[in-house]
Amino acid sequence: MGLRRIGVVGCGLMGSGIAEVCARTGYDVVVREVNDELLQKGLDRLRQSLTRAVARGKSTQEQADQAWARIHGTLNFAEFADCDLVVEAAIENMDLKKQIFTELDRIVPPHAILASNTSSLCVTEMASVTRRGDKVLGIHFFNPVPVMPLIEFVRTILTSDTTMEIARQFGASLGKTMVTAKDTPGFIVNRLLIPYLLDTVRIYEDGLATKEDIDTGIKLGLNHPMGPLTLLDFVGLDTALFIADAMYEEYKDSRYAAPPLLRRMVLAGYLGRKSGKGFYDYS
Ligand code: CAA
Repeated sequence: MGLRRIGVVGCGLMGSGIAEVCARTGYDVVVREVNDELLQKGLDRLRQSLTRAVARGKSTQEQADQAWARIHGTLNFAEFADCDLVVEAAIENMDLKKQIFTELDRIVPPHAILASNTSSLCVTEMASVTRRGDKVLGIHFFNPVPVMPLIEFVRTILTSDTTMEIARQFGASLGKTMVTAKDTPGFIVNRLLIPYLLDTVRIYEDGLATKEDIDTGIKLGLNHPMGPLTLLDFVGLDTALFIADAMYEEYKDSRYAAPPLLRRMVLAGYLGRKSGKGFYDYS
């Protein structure tokens, strides 16, 4: 099956990035938000990213204009009616995701594939509210989507070989490298990343070293692009806490138990870059 039209639910940081890479590849894209303000904000971010790609010499102005022309923003689920694949990138709330999957299953054509960009929630539970479990999978992108080369596929016990093959062709068309994991919390990358980030907060809380020294140690000692506390600010402390809680809930293993400081920083509104303050100040 050739994919032509891609739907994206949510035009936040991840949704706008997914919509952008799809449009740049040549797909027609419908991206949906819950209100005008969020839709406008997401489309503005997307437009800026296209402009930045031109400024960096990664695409021509003509290519950016063509990509922009392929993107259609909407508030209406009905506009997914002729999508071949829909990627859900809404907030990490299972009840909301189940509502979205129920609605999508009713609207999209019988052949269409439904995917979630969830970083930790159970994809099988989302599939369970549809009548097309064989056509549901996780397609987990990484932030910033236009830059990060990986897609992590999450295959449930219901996902068919045909769906996986179509997903692989889609990922390859976007120029991404793909890995596949079973539907367990954290999949591959977050299963390893989250305990590392939680341990970083623990050693910082214990006073082992300053935050700058912890970050410099990892950046220069291991050649990572960002130190772990900078990465936590980048991912969002609330997002990291949410994933940790979901993993702890499933595994009941202390490796995934959030340290007190992380939970308190989130309660205090220190969410990282997006709130202007996390471990570092961005104001
Ligand atoms: N959109 C588009 N392009 C971007 C971008 C964005 N938001 N941010 C950076 N870039 C591009 C730049 O244009 C630049 O491209 P060129 O080199 O081709 O000109 C390149 O990325 C490098 O950018 P900068 O020079 O501005 O900055 P940098 O060298 O510090 O790189 C970074 C920035 C790519 C974000 C790098 O620091 C990095 O890779 N950090 C780690 C990111 C990471 O780990 N992401 C995964 C988070 S976990 C996740 O997403 C999953 C989850 O479930 C939680």
